[in-house]
Amino acid sequence: MLRMKQVLVVGGALLLGMGAVWAQQDSVKEVQSLMKGNGKNAGAMSAMVKGEKPYDQATVDSALAQFEVTAKKLPNLFPASAKGVKLDGDYSPSSKVWEDKAGFDAKIASFAKVVGEAKTKIKDLDSLKATMPAIGRECGGCHETYRIKNG
Ligand code: HEC
Repeated sequence: MLRMKQVLVVGGALLLGMGAVWAQQDSVKEVQSLMKGNGKNAGAMSAMVKGEKPYDQATVDSALAQFEVTAKKLPNLFPASAKGVKLDGDYSPSSKVWEDKAGFDAKIASFAKVVGEAKTKIKDLDSLKATMPAIGRECGGCHETYRIKNG
């Protein structure tokens, strides 16, 4: 009887452990879907900058709103045990995200600040053109250190 109980306890703990691993991978996968959204939205804004699409305030507003959601969520999406996770697709987070959490959090904060400012600045094509480079620098500045190419 005791043995059976032990088996159940051990089995339960194993299941809990596996659940936790899945949850951690899911959280980094959420990063990937946020980033894919970032890429799409940044692309939509660049198309306007390049004159491929007419200026559209609603597209700008929803892009900036999505960047803001990303910045809000990112700090909590890299649990310690997910370090070294490799995502399907072209990119994964660098282990530096975990090794230099303070540096990574600083990049998130600076991204959030630039996006917040962009919300008050971008009103037309000229202000979009003037502000887009600062946003691009935030994306690139974080990727340079904290994103690696798979392969
Ligand atoms: C604070 C850090 C940080 C900022 C700021 C940031 N990213 Fe990322 N990005 C990452 C990390 C880490 C990855 C790797 C994980 C992944 O691929 O999802 C990534 C991956 C990506 C990917 C590849 C997604 C995939 O796996 O297919 C794209 C596209 C992307 N980012 C676009 C952007 C754009 C556009 C911006 C700016 C508007 C931005 N990112 C801002 C950290 C950041």
